[in-house]
Amino acid sequence: MAPTPAAIRCSGVASGLLLLLFFLLIQPSISIYCDEDDCYDLLGVSQSANSSEIKKAYYKLSLKYHPDKNPDPDSRKFFVKIANAYEVLKDEATREQYDYAIAHPEEDARAVLVGLLLVLSAFQYLNQWTRYNQAIDMVKKTPAYKNRLHALELERSGGMTNKKKGQKPMDKKMTEDLSKELDLQITGAEKPSMWELLGVRFILLPYTIGKLLLWHACWLWRYQVKRAPHSWEDASYLTRRSLGASLDKWRSIDESMQEDLIQRRLWEKPNLESYLAEMRIESKRRR
Ligand SMILES: *[C@@H]1O[C@H](CO)[C@@H](O)[C@H](O)[C@H]1NC(C)=O
Repeated sequence: MAPTPAAIRCSGVASGLLLLLFFLLIQPSISIYCDEDDCYDLLGVSQSANSSEIKKAYYKLSLKYHPDKNPDPDSRKFFVKIANAYEVLKDEATREQYDYAIAHPEEDARAVLVGLLLVLSAFQYLNQWTRYNQAIDMVKKTPAYKNRLHALELERSGGMTNKKKGQKPMDKKMTEDLSKELDLQITGAEKPSMWELLGVRFILLPYTIGKLLLWHACWLWRYQVKRAPHSWEDASYLTRRSLGASLDKWRSIDESMQEDLIQRRLWEKPNLESYLAEMRIESKRRR
């Protein structure tokens, strides 16, 4: 189904929210306090200095670098910096936040990673929708689609094709409804899926890995330890893999052929080799 304007608006709002979240997460970064400088270094005090020491250091520096005394731009810049550093350190709460940010630089890295994943996922999602819409538009331009739409229209209107002028808007709405119905049947265009997004995949990574490990363990237990016969599903998987065929290709083969192939146990090397040799002879004979 093509996204309705509401869906498009929704994805717009969603990516907006994601970006907002990104900037909120980036917020605790140290650079919001004294840019690339250390606030304590700017005032020339240690991190354990008490509030009166900080105050004293600030007043001393501000007297020295005040723009009234030092009109050159460099000291003006430095004056702004120390004033800013003092703003951060004079307030107990902001000083605590700053100390925390210095002590936990890894949280910055984590925030950047999360933000990056969010932004990438948002772009990926929008991109998926764009590609999906393009694919749908292409299909809609084909004569086959137009014919089907027309046939459906005729069917619904009970074969009445004479259009009166007053009915036009109604017809248009009906066409839209019908094309929505047809959209459901368009195949080949993958509808954007939340599960494919980078961010979601990243979050699900431990789960995915766990599932894979469990699968391998079950496989080993069943077929290497207990030496059970392969289930149909597992045998088709092995056959498909030894032939290097995609799932779609495998599914397009009819069932008796699949059965034949599975019987040959192609996942065992000698079997595969003799099968391939047979195929080569076969194709030579046909030529
Ligand atoms: C701050 O530290 C200085 C020097 O260590 C000391 O003389 C002063 O009493 C302290 N002030 C407060 C409020 O703790």
